[in-house]
Amino acid sequence: MNMQTKLYTSFIVLLGIIQNLECLVIDGCPLFGCRPSGSFSFYLQVPRENVSFKWSSSFVLDPVPNALGCVADSVNIVCPSNGPFSEDKGYISLYIENGTIRWRDRVLHFPTLPLLDNYGDVTGSDGEKLVHYDRDGKLYPIIKCYGLNPMFSMQLVGTMYLLLVGEQGGLVVRDTNAIPVAEIFLNDTVQRTNGTFLPISQPVVNGQRFYLLTEFVPESENFDPSVLNLQRLYAIDIHDRPADIMTIAWSYNFEMESPTNDEINQVSRNEKIMHIRNSIQKQQNLLWDYATQGVYVSLPPPYMSNRQSTFWGFRDEGNDTSLTIRSPLDVSHLATFEADSDDVRHHDGGKQSGSYLWISTADSRLCTIKSDGNVSRTINVNSIFGTDVVITSKLALVRQNDTADDILIFGAKITKQTDSFRKVVASFPNMNINETFYVVAIDTSSPTGHIMWMQGLPDGYEVKGQITGFSGAAYQQKDQIVFYADNGKSAKIFSIN
Ligand SMILES: *[C@@H]1O[C@H](CO)[C@@H](O)[C@H](O)[C@H]1NC(C)=O
Ligand SMILES: *[C@@H]1O[C@H](CO)[C@@H](O)[C@H](O)[C@H]1NC(C)=O
Ligand SMILES: *[C@@H]1O[C@H](CO)[C@@H](O)[C@H](O)[C@H]1NC(C)=O
Ligand SMILES: *[C@@H]1O[C@H](CO)[C@@H](O)[C@H](O)[C@H]1NC(C)=O
Ligand SMILES: *[C@@H]1O[C@H](CO)[C@@H](O)[C@H](O)[C@H]1NC(C)=O
Ligand SMILES: *[C@@H]1O[C@H](CO)[C@@H](O)[C@H](O)[C@H]1NC(C)=O
Ligand SMILES: *[C@@H]1O[C@H](CO)[C@@H](O)[C@H](O)[C@H]1NC(C)=O
Repeated sequence: MNMQTKLYTSFIVLLGIIQNLECLVIDGCPLFGCRPSGSFSFYLQVPRENVSFKWSSSFVLDPVPNALGCVADSVNIVCPSNGPFSEDKGYISLYIENGTIRWRDRVLHFPTLPLLDNYGDVTGSDGEKLVHYDRDGKLYPIIKCYGLNPMFSMQLVGTMYLLLVGEQGGLVVRDTNAIPVAEIFLNDTVQRTNGTFLPISQPVVNGQRFYLLTEFVPESENFDPSVLNLQRLYAIDIHDRPADIMTIAWSYNFEMESPTNDEINQVSRNEKIMHIRNSIQKQQNLLWDYATQGVYVSLPPPYMSNRQSTFWGFRDEGNDTSLTIRSPLDVSHLATFEADSDDVRHHDGGKQSGSYLWISTADSRLCTIKSDGNVSRTINVNSIFGTDVVITSKLALVRQNDTADDILIFGAKITKQTDSFRKVVASFPNMNINETFYVVAIDTSSPTGHIMWMQGLPDGYEVKGQITGFSGAAYQQKDQIVFYADNGKSAKIFSIN
């Protein structure tokens, strides 16, 4: 089979799964955010007690810069890797049974997260090259991307398009044969200053539409200082037609607060670009929620401002948008349960079935947010742990089925040992009381939430990036939760169940 047929087939498979809403289920968390919408949710028969390590990787791995975690389904686990040799900076594929290396990619250099289909085929990029491997590591012809350094993980838009976001602000769309079909820049003139809106967050997808958070960067050093803080949310459509493939449906300007004198004096164009490149991916900023037909934004403060993040919600009204939430909440992560079936995708922030928009705050509270932006429920992680906790990974949300309660899983760092924390730990069998780093599951069925289980990590390994997992049903095995962790000197991939 040639490259094009193969890519086409593999993507149709992945998308077939997403499109067929009747009976098929997306297995695991096969891309950044687990779903194109960035919901960070997946189905999992989560262990209720007595979790333990199924395996941990035994090969030598250096910490991965800006670790994003892994993607997985029941046939393949793929993670960006680092070392031990200089050519080992691409993906590794692991056997789900024992975490040993199935194959390694020696083409890419620090890629973002790839897309995995349900045959275990992998498509990913480091911005220089686009690669496609089958489950067994057979490499298809490499496609050059011409210096499109990716700041973000590849996205899947609709059933037919790959979206790559370039470092210079180019948005490139390729079809499932990997052939480029469109490229646009978000150039604009703001207060007589020409410039480009550069992406500052991972795009998220709603059907044929994607949302992108951007910040204005002037074209030259000659600019009106008042344009410095302009951030904009774009809704962009990809059309199935021969020309004019990418069009802007609407955009929203976040209110520009006037820059301070310090900002005016100190910021140069290049500093600003460097800042945007260095600060991305630290946080999840966008989520599309099918239940409310809303896009939610954790807006980072603009460069050189000492304001904190703010939280925004928008209803997508097709050709326009309406603001639904503007809140001072400092949101670190967002997650919501996204059912595979359309029937279940509804909620009004209070019903028993349906879904809730969960956020985590910088002070480790987990909250559900109503459609007006008010908090309907708070789980205070610090109080259920009896000590101050830092959430180190992205928040993952799993459910056993469409009507089960949400279970939130994340990496945790305990800032100090306290008597109350020792009591909490003592209630779990086989726990080493002295660990600093944990992976934790919170059962949200009770009003204040409770710790369903926690698993300590050895040797100062801290969970980073997204937590993934997959079903073991096909092998009569328990489902697995898989994550990346490092301690600054070395890195490992762990599986627990
Ligand atoms: C969990 O472990 C405890 C103590 O070892 C044991 O009594 C219990 O049956 C176990 N539960 C399951 C579901 O295996
Ligand atoms: C790991 O599992 C794979 C697939 O079952 C098997 O081929 C391989 O030999 C196993 N490796 C070890 C070290 O057990
Ligand atoms: C848009 O901006 C980019 C980056 O600054 C520049 O390379 C490109 O030429 C601009 N395109 C147009 C049509 O002005
Ligand atoms: C801004 O761009 C427009 C064309 O898009 C051009 O006519 C104009 O001269 C530019 N202004 C500056 C100040 O470069
Ligand atoms: C959006 O605009 C298009 C083209 O202008 C129009 O055909 C369509 O009806 C509009 N949709 C809504 C929801 O207003
Ligand atoms: C949301 O909270 C604000 C402030 O507490 C309150 O004034 C408002 O009525 C609440 N909105 C709803 C719909 O409950
Ligand atoms: C869904 O999961 C819940 C919680 O585990 C369970 O009680 C319920 O029976 C399940 N429902 C179905 C339809 O399987």
